[in-house]
Amino acid sequence: MASDIKEKIADLKRQRKAVILAHNYQIGEVQDIADLTGDSLGLSMAASRTDAETIVFCGVRFMAETAAILSPDKTVLLPDETAGCPMADMINAEQLAKLKKKHPGALVVCYVNTTAEVKALSDCCCTSSNALELVRRLPADREIIFVPDRNLGQYIIDMTGRDMVLWPGYCITHERIMAEDVLKAKAEHPDALVIAHPECNSEVRACSDKLLSTGQMLKFAARSDRRSFIVVTEIGIIHSLRKACPDKEFVPVSQAAVCRNMKKITLEKVLWSLQDMKHQVTVPEDVRVRARRSLDRMLEVIPS
Ligand code: 13P
Ligand code: SF4
Repeated sequence: MASDIKEKIADLKRQRKAVILAHNYQIGEVQDIADLTGDSLGLSMAASRTDAETIVFCGVRFMAETAAILSPDKTVLLPDETAGCPMADMINAEQLAKLKKKHPGALVVCYVNTTAEVKALSDCCCTSSNALELVRRLPADREIIFVPDRNLGQYIIDMTGRDMVLWPGYCITHERIMAEDVLKAKAEHPDALVIAHPECNSEVRACSDKLLSTGQMLKFAARSDRRSFIVVTEIGIIHSLRKACPDKEFVPVSQAAVCRNMKKITLEKVLWSLQDMKHQVTVPEDVRVRARRSLDRMLEVIPS
């Protein structure tokens, strides 16, 4: 049955001249049928460069919107139209406009986990892969507003020494991970290295060895001479890590670290999406043009 679905997806993909992009937090089955899996930066780059006519985005809405902003001539499909990112919805354009008024002259850096309208009001966008490098490049004499993730924002402040005005947004999935979970996993796996996502809170970050985006986790684990890792992020990445490094051990820090929105995409929904060309994600042209400027700045900073 499943292979039948996979064959149908493959057929339709050819007919629609489609490419399937999947985030590292997607369920394993979806990752396995994707043409490319990756983190927010890698998938944005792929969306901006593809010559496919249709992009099926297996992720959450802001990711599909980013693809639509970068590739306006393509049809971008989100297989479940309700797959959103609660963090991205923690700040809207009106709230950002108010904050900007309070800090005239400040540069606005928005995390890619934002709506197109918020990107359009920002000076540059970043992902967890390039946030440090991007902030380090900003003029030293300008105030910086960073939205919406207070955890990634504080991590940037700690690492760069740049003070920033933060918005109190957070990822509800990473917030479920507690320092106690990390300490327990460390006690059970004393030889393992702790790799964590910077969306985790400060107590969790403090007891981790390395803070990395999901794409950086994959590269780091492959290059490292360590054999065992405690993985402190959404559990979908475990599939990607085990596939990339079958000879290494990856211990998920908490079974509670599940992003329900990422898990809404299934093989069936990918199939229906290609059959019905649904759900198309578009961005009004005036918003798209302004949001594109922020995203172009993000794509200029490619971490090594
Ligand atoms: P990255 O894959 O870019 O590290 O992002 C994590 C995330 O929360 C996506 O929603
Ligand atoms: Fe949003 Fe967190 Fe889910 Fe990523 S993991 S999509 S930041 S809720």
